[in-house]
Amino acid sequence: MSELSVKHLLGIKYLNKDDLKLIFKTADHFKEVINRPIKKVPSLRDITIANLFFENSTRTKLSFELAEKRLSADVINFSSSQSSVAKGETLVDTVNNILSMKVDMLVMRHPNPGAGVFLSKHINASIINAGDGAHEHPTQALLDSYSIKEHLGEIKGRNILIVGDIMHSRVALSNIFALQLQGANLMVCGPKSLIPKYITSLGVAVETDLRKALQWCDVANMLRVQNERMDMSYFPSTREYTQQFGVTKTLLDSLDKEITIMHPGPINRGVEITSDVADSKQAIILNQVENGVAIRMAVIYLLASKIK
Ligand code: NCD
Repeated sequence: MSELSVKHLLGIKYLNKDDLKLIFKTADHFKEVINRPIKKVPSLRDITIANLFFENSTRTKLSFELAEKRLSADVINFSSSQSSVAKGETLVDTVNNILSMKVDMLVMRHPNPGAGVFLSKHINASIINAGDGAHEHPTQALLDSYSIKEHLGEIKGRNILIVGDIMHSRVALSNIFALQLQGANLMVCGPKSLIPKYITSLGVAVETDLRKALQWCDVANMLRVQNERMDMSYFPSTREYTQQFGVTKTLLDSLDKEITIMHPGPINRGVEITSDVADSKQAIILNQVENGVAIRMAVIYLLASKIK
């Protein structure tokens, strides 16, 4: 297969196994490109991309921008705190104004789940979801799977654990969809109040004892507690959360195997993982960030080839 089955990347939910294979194969090529002295290819010289960030971001925004520039696309950036959204303009109006400046592709982060899906019905450009509220964050899940494959070989049959605030995490949902497509076994662990009831219906196991969960897994993906998405308190205090669900080096060293630690960032050092875990050999957190650029180059390149 040489084409994606979709015109937009709105969520992993809309992709199939062949799409993932094609994205990973294309990312292999771009990973080689970005390790060359000249880290740039002219592939998208005729494409203009707008990065619309209606929610905070560091890594994802920089990663998309670098990916676009390394493909030689023209890039414009927009963040809602500095825009007319604050003056009451609707999302469709804001985006249509941007598109009338002849933009071909939008990368959008938005606090509302389904914002990308909504927009895809109203506008005529390719959309990449860079995180929509607590719903999906497809490029993060793609770079996570790519990093696991790179580190461990096959994903099929591997035990992957996701720890923390499953309820408010778009990284959790997109990872679950992506890893299941590739045949992984999945488990989540966290405070019961932060694990949605529907999770077992997705075929994901639930464990509230962190030590048992870590003992089961090959890889633990540690998530940040999404305080900004909470309107009430889901656990007694950060200290208690850390005592029960924080990973320390002592805990890792007490397991009878060496597991791989992942984190999408931003890390709250000393909350979900301690510094010595974040900086240990077992952590592949910075490899994830590196792979993010190659994965985003692959996604943008493949979607752009459907525009022409
Ligand atoms: C994640 C996000 O924004 O969903 N971060 C990221 O994209 N690297 C996770 C988070 O904010 O905790």
